[in-house]
Formats: sequence, structure tokens, C-alpha cells
Amino acid sequence: MADEKRNDGKRVLVVGASRGLGEAVVEEYARRGARVIGTARSDGGTPLHRFAGAAGGAVEVERVDIADRGELDALAERLQGRSFDLLFVVAGISLAPRGAIAADIDDADFALMMQTNALGAIRAVEALGPLVEPEGTIAVMSSGQGSIAGNRSGGFEVYRATKAALNQLMRSYAARHEGDRRALLLLAPGWVRTDMGGDGAPFSIADSIPALVDTIEAQSGIAGLRYLDRHGETVPW
Ligand SMILES: NC(=O)c1ccc[n+]([C@@H]2O[C@H](COP(=O)([O-])OP(=O)(O)OC[C@H]3O[C@@H](n4cnc5c(N)ncnc54)[C@H](OP(=O)(O)O)[C@@H]3O)[C@@H](O)[C@H]2O)c1
Repeated sequence: MADEKRNDGKRVLVVGASRGLGEAVVEEYARRGARVIGTARSDGGTPLHRFAGAAGGAVEVERVDIADRGELDALAERLQGRSFDLLFVVAGISLAPRGAIAADIDDADFALMMQTNALGAIRAVEALGPLVEPEGTIAVMSSGQGSIAGNRSGGFEVYRATKAALNQLMRSYAARHEGDRRALLLLAPGWVRTDMGGDGAPFSIADSIPALVDTIEAQSGIAGLRYLDRHGETVPW
């Protein structure tokens, strides 16, 4: 098809791809001809494993829990000698309902959300970023909910805080890598029907992920950090 979008041979690493948006990113890039590695926390039985099994070698599955520093280092070690045009860290969790007040959350849930969404994601960038080509892209799944300026409605108090922390950590990473030619992206996919997003979310995966991948591709080769929605519009910090 003449209008088919292609990324033939592009080397893509998607962290947190067992199901949901990460798995859909793997499928989208594979459909466009990329060679993709997706990561899961388990050794089998996920939508990613099923898709990779049917993809005839174009999709590989690796294993990592981003909340475990040792596992991230082990993955980086296993991937030594490989290089990627795109690293996309998608993994994230939300453990409290929309109306929960931050001060009331269980301490362990707060710690695990921060450990996963902020610390784990930036550790994945630190551990795996060196495998990304000098003019490649490092993308991280943030959320519109991470926008401090955009928080007028409240809700999801701790989840918002974890994504705002992630955004801040990426700003520090970008400052430390000033002059780096790679594109650094914090992405907001919209509110999407997944296990996390729930059945009431306004957008389907098909509404979000192809557009999000188009945005990643449009940003390829443009150095520096940007916080963008799936249509490529800037999200206020
Ligand atoms: N859905 C939305 O509306 C929405 C909106 C904005 C942003 N986001 C963000 O998009 C990302 C994906 O969300 P989703 O809706 O696809 O959620 P999901 O359906 O709940 O999937 C979450 C994914 O993250 C993985 N994951 C969680 N903790 C992990 C860890 N410690 N190490 C490695 N992988 C881990 C899960 O793996 P397991 O299968 O092993 O649990 C799963 O693959 C998250 O960062 C989320 O915050 C989602």
C-alpha cells in the first residue's frame, strides 16, 4: 500500500511490553517492518510472548523488572554489543483509585509506585541508554497526569506525583547530557482502555498507539528533551 508507514530494519527496544500500551507499541513497530525487542517480567504466557511467537523472528522477548536494579544491569549486560535506534520505556503502575487522597495511601504502595514509575524508569534509561545510537531516540511513557501546570482537576494524586517526578528526572538527565544529539521524549498517550486505563477511558489502543508512534518518528533526529502528547503537541510542564 502506497500510504503504508514503514520503519524497515529500525532497531527498537520496548521496556514493559508484556501487555497494554507497551505490547501495542511492539506490534505497531513490527507491522512497520522494525526489528523489535519487547520486555516482560515473566517467562511466558503474556500477549507479548504470543505475538512474538507468531512474528517469525522479527520480535524477541527479553525479561526485566525495572524496579530491580540488578535485573536492569543484567539486561544491559545481555544486550552488550547490540545497538538500538529507539529505546522506549513504557512500564508503569497505578495502585490507588482516582479519588484516593495521597496522605491516605498505604506506605508500601506509595514507595512501589515511585520506585517503578520514577526511579525504575530513569534507571532503565541510565542502564539501557548507552545502547542507543548517537542520533537515536530515548522515549519514556509519561502521562498528561504528570503535568503540574495542567493539574486543575486533581485526582490520581500519587500517580500524578510519580509521573511529575519522572518528568523532573528526565529533565535532569537531559541537562546532564547537554549537547547529546539524541531525541529525548516524555510522552502522553491519552487516557486509553487498558488494564490500567480501565473500560471507561475515552480512547482505544488503536486511537493512541499508531499516532504516538508517528510522533516518535516525527521527532527522530531532533536533539533535546520534549514532553509531547500522541499528536506531537507540547504538554505544559
Ligand atoms: N492507559 C492509560 O490511559 C495511560 C495513560 C497515560 C500513561 N499511561 C502509561 O503508559 C504505560 C503503560 O500503561 P498501560 O495502560 O499499558 O498499563 P497496563 O496495561 O497496566 O500495563 C503495564 C505494563 O507495565 C509493565 N510493568 C509494570 N511494572 C513493571 C516493572 N516493575 N517492570 C517491568 N514492567 C513493568 C506491566 O508488566 P506486567 O504484565 O508484568 O505487570 C505491563 O506490561 C504506563 O507507564 C502508564 O503509566 C497509561
